Amino acid sequence: CGIVGVMGNDRSVEILINGLKTLEYRGYDSAGIYVNDQDGHDYLVKRQGRIKNLESALTDDIHGKAGIGHTRWATHGEPSEKNAHPHFSNDKRFYLVHNGVIENYEQLKREYLGEVELNSQTDTEVIVQLVAHFVHESHMTTKSAFLKVLRLISNESSYAFVLMDREEPDTLFVAKNKSPLLVGLADGYNLVGSDAISMLKETNRFMEIEDHELVIVKPDRIQIEDFEGQERSRDSFVVDMDADAADKGAYPYYMLKEIDEQPAVMRRIVGQYFDQAGNPQVDEAILDALAKADHLYIIGAGTSYHAGLVGARMIEKYAHIPTTVHISSEFAYDHPMLSEHPFFLFLSQSGETADSRQVLVEVNENHWPSLTMTNVDKSTLSREATYTMLLHAGPEIAVASTKAYTAQIAVEAVLAKALGQFLKHPEADEFDLRSQLGMVANGMQAITDSKDDIEEIASRFLSKTRNAFYIGRAIDWSVSIEAALKLKEISYVQAEGFASGELKHGTIALIEDGTPVIGIITQDKTAGLTRSNLEETVARGANAITIVSRHLAQETDTIIIPDVDDNLTPLLSVVPAQLLAYYTSLGKGYDVDKPRNLAKSVTVM
Ligand code: G6P
Repeated sequence: CGIVGVMGNDRSVEILINGLKTLEYRGYDSAGIYVNDQDGHDYLVKRQGRIKNLESALTDDIHGKAGIGHTRWATHGEPSEKNAHPHFSNDKRFYLVHNGVIENYEQLKREYLGEVELNSQTDTEVIVQLVAHFVHESHMTTKSAFLKVLRLISNESSYAFVLMDREEPDTLFVAKNKSPLLVGLADGYNLVGSDAISMLKETNRFMEIEDHELVIVKPDRIQIEDFEGQERSRDSFVVDMDADAADKGAYPYYMLKEIDEQPAVMRRIVGQYFDQAGNPQVDEAILDALAKADHLYIIGAGTSYHAGLVGARMIEKYAHIPTTVHISSEFAYDHPMLSEHPFFLFLSQSGETADSRQVLVEVNENHWPSLTMTNVDKSTLSREATYTMLLHAGPEIAVASTKAYTAQIAVEAVLAKALGQFLKHPEADEFDLRSQLGMVANGMQAITDSKDDIEEIASRFLSKTRNAFYIGRAIDWSVSIEAALKLKEISYVQAEGFASGELKHGTIALIEDGTPVIGIITQDKTAGLTRSNLEETVARGANAITIVSRHLAQETDTIIIPDVDDNLTPLLSVVPAQLLAYYTSLGKGYDVDKPRNLAKSVTVM
């Protein structure tokens, strides 16, 4: 879910709606705002569905000097207007937006709200009703009632809260635990938001909020306290980002724009991470810390996890450090026996994924060193890890990740080479990454220039199928998994990425007449084997499609991609797969950028 708040500006409605639009990537099944004009009038508007539904429900008389807004990704309670935020107390005095999950809300409800009739099925409503309960029953001030509720919430819970009291309309009551939330400092007014971009049209100056703090936001000042009432002070920081970079321009969908941006991203990474002589530039402190590690654990979720699968091979090859890749939601609760000197590499486009952060919390408790590779400067995972390397991919808006995947692989390659050279492994010297990334950029361009062919393949083979398989071996298998995820998430084709040799041990039973099987073939060592596995499926009725590196191509191949270094082929082989998913989704008339049930950044566990 995404949250915004504004205090002390007549344009509050506009500021909230603009902020929410940028936060739609965090969920979009319902949205709402509450505004107060600080002159006795207030307004609550909620709608199911996208922000645009909310926007069209707003009339001219709805205005305010302060307000809160929310876009939701349902956890407790189905997506509906009732369950949408802001939630309010029965006396219509308190209004609350929340991102996260209150684990002990049932218990709190039983203990304190037995008599109270609730309007929704959400954990959030319990919290706002509780605040009202303490204000009325125990004659507390709003601040102390809110504090009391915060103390009652179990530690496993996650929340980012912004609370308003219609009788104290010049104050936002703000707190967080695990879920992201930042304060924005503007000229004569202040803001809060789930990320910096949501406030970037108003300001580029921000202040962090730590877990278990109460923040009081007034039009002209910010006051931070811990739960014991001790005041805290904090410096603000400036984020250097262009608010317009998140505009999709002439493109019908962000996803297509982001696929097309990949050559430029590769060139930007070269510009950022190499000197004139072609040497990689990585902070020596990072290399130094990594050189002391005996095992590297790569942690990620979704597409970022898949990028880790590719990067791990390069780290082992060039830096000779044993590396394993882990799904963050698994690792957080069930990790393997760790080595004596572990180092953790977090991959996260958004830098906000709650599952990954859960692992980082444990890493920090143990004082293990960590590095976050992320696209979002000053994001939670970036602030809390020991080191950060930025992806420089520019804002990624489409839910299905494309340029962040290729950027992650490229930056992992930079790290592998830099570390290998630092450790004096000759093969790292010989890896001419800078010119290879240049070739990758040109190769990506060639693939995106032949979109029409890929659109044709998508409509012929994928538009009507219920299921499909991507197959490959080794690094091609890693890409298969990502390729299948793209198809699943936006075109709803049940797709699987499979180790091609393993097919015959069971999965081949699923092949029927016309099942599309897409073989990824980029490696000399395994090309012949993958081809025979593909033949085995054709013999059982499959429609074979191939994505093949030029030097291995045969006449019957479907999509031919340019040759690059063996370790970097995923940067090219994934691009046709991204486009196949895009055109399949488009052909079916789906909203490519905002697939059902998903959110771009998942800040609940
Ligand atoms: C969500 C998105 C995925 C993304 C994953 C990890 O599930 O839908 O596209 O790969 O989160 O996100 P992160 O920001 O940590 O890379």
